[in-house]
Amino acid sequence: MRRRRVIKPRIVKTKEEIAGIRESGKVNCAVLDAVASRIKEGMSTEEIDEIVYETTIKLGGTPAPLHYEGFPKSVCTSVNNQVCHGIPSRDVILQSGDIINVDVSTIYKGYFSDSSRMFCIGEVSEENRRLVRVAKECVEEGLKEVAPWKPMGTMGAAVNAHATANGYSVVRDIGGHGVGLKFHEEPFVSYVTMPGTGIHMPPGMVFTIEPMINAGTCQFTIDKTNGWTVYTKDGKMSAQWEVTVAVTEEGCEILAY
Ligand code: MF3
Ligand code: CO
Repeated sequence: MRRRRVIKPRIVKTKEEIAGIRESGKVNCAVLDAVASRIKEGMSTEEIDEIVYETTIKLGGTPAPLHYEGFPKSVCTSVNNQVCHGIPSRDVILQSGDIINVDVSTIYKGYFSDSSRMFCIGEVSEENRRLVRVAKECVEEGLKEVAPWKPMGTMGAAVNAHATANGYSVVRDIGGHGVGLKFHEEPFVSYVTMPGTGIHMPPGMVFTIEPMINAGTCQFTIDKTNGWTVYTKDGKMSAQWEVTVAVTEEGCEILAY
């Protein structure tokens, strides 16, 4: 359990704060673009970490994961059956057929943003490409339900419905979060929810949609050696995309993707 914060970040951000998170999100996206342009077969995940660190610093930001609750690297790189929180390493070399999530989070001028993308390395099977595509569609289905005063549960239900309709499962106990003034703020954002439940999204709320979509069971195990990396319990593949989104008076605005 984490220590209670003395100052609790507000769920609703001001226009100025959202402008700051938007700038942070631009840096976050530029970092992911740098990864996208260079990621390839034969590269180690340590090299992805170097790209993320160097690009973020060059753009005037700080990688939020670095030393966050003891996380040792600047980015999470989760390959194949790793659900999330994969730690970059010289020993993990990208092979043809791999699917990998690169999860980038940036602090820029004090504002936090968080988004992740999947990459297909070399020749990826049709089965695994479908998982990657459906995981992205799940985020988009969720985004369609982000509007002022809509219940959060309706958004999560849309994500879950799309995953299950495609024969996949959604991880329950790890989810999204408020973001902007801190890395992880309230509320916890679930994608295993009933429509019409949960808090009604106020304009100015900023949070992530980042469902972890598993080809098999939604159950997972956590690496006992490093205490971070999450694996599917059945060894089957997992995919995840993540956006930072703001609720606006009219609907929503994507701040990082
Ligand atoms: N987007 C991930 C999350 O919100 C990033 C985790 S970074 C880590 O959980 F440092 F916490 F691993
Ligand atoms: Co996140």
